[in-house]
Amino acid sequence: MPGVVEADDLGTYVVKFTGSAQGRKALVAEVIVGELARALGLRFPELVLVHFDPAIADSEPHQEVRDLHGASAGLNLGMDFLPGAKDFTPQVAKRFPVDALEAGRIVWLDALTVNVDRTVHSSNLMVWPTFGTAPPQLWLIDHGAALVFHHRWDASDPAKAYDFRHHALGHYTPDTRAADAELAPRVTRELLREVTAAVPDAWLTVEEGFATPDEVRTAYVDYLHARVAASAAWLPTDFPTREELAAEEEQRAARTQQGRPNWLKRVPDLHGKPAAEQDWSVHLG
Ligand SMILES: Nc1ncnc2c1ncn2[C@@H]1O[C@H](COP(=O)(O)OP(=O)(O)OP(=O)(O)O)[C@@H](O)[C@H]1O
Ligand SMILES: [Mg+2]
Repeated sequence: MPGVVEADDLGTYVVKFTGSAQGRKALVAEVIVGELARALGLRFPELVLVHFDPAIADSEPHQEVRDLHGASAGLNLGMDFLPGAKDFTPQVAKRFPVDALEAGRIVWLDALTVNVDRTVHSSNLMVWPTFGTAPPQLWLIDHGAALVFHHRWDASDPAKAYDFRHHALGHYTPDTRAADAELAPRVTRELLREVTAAVPDAWLTVEEGFATPDEVRTAYVDYLHARVAASAAWLPTDFPTREELAAEEEQRAARTQQGRPNWLKRVPDLHGKPAAEQDWSVHLG
């Protein structure tokens, strides 16, 4: 549960709290993947470290939110708030063309960093600005669910395939081969050392199996460097067509329906996802 916070530099930030259920690893992933995206020329809002005093939220009426703030005293992560930005939903996508190379670069970054949270269900892409004369563009946000390998270092294979079937940009014919040729040579050890250096020590000290924060940083550098070298093994290329996805979705819905008692058969089939998106036609044909 991020909060919109005005800081003492008068900036407004979307703050993700260290005391949240996702924990510090989500913040580590935000920093590493976001700074990597920025270094590769993708748009990603500025990040800041925010010293948060839970006392400022004393008037918060919800106990759950107060507990979160109470557990988050000290250093937290802030992302520059993009005023008026719109979530890249299927409705917005209809009026917003994305070129195949930009789509390719974003899918490539997600595959490299094993980001499981940029799907048609939740794009974690924003369109900004939405007013004024500057043209609206795509911005990346929310990389907290990337770098899934850091939950099991011992079992992580850098050449592991990436499940891209439901990627939010799968229908823009992402040119991942061009993206790989352009971006892979830029992901050097040096760049990886730079982006991992941006993670505060405090978020790396409790990692099991590592003696120091720098050892953890080196593990990220080694893994991502090995993964970028193995891009031929995970490069997403054969994106399913809208028709294939629609058929798959229909089959899945039919299976779910079959397993339901009569009284549940008329409940909309959301597969556990929130009903925020009402029009799926742009993705499903
Ligand atoms: N920098 C930003 N500027 C404007 N709005 C933002 C920004 N970052 C996030 N948001 C809005 O807040 C929502 C939640 O942010 P984010 O996805 O980063 O958090 P989260 O806790 O991981 O949420 P979720 O679990 O829903 O993905 C976004 O979908 C978006 O609408
Ligand atoms: Mg999100």
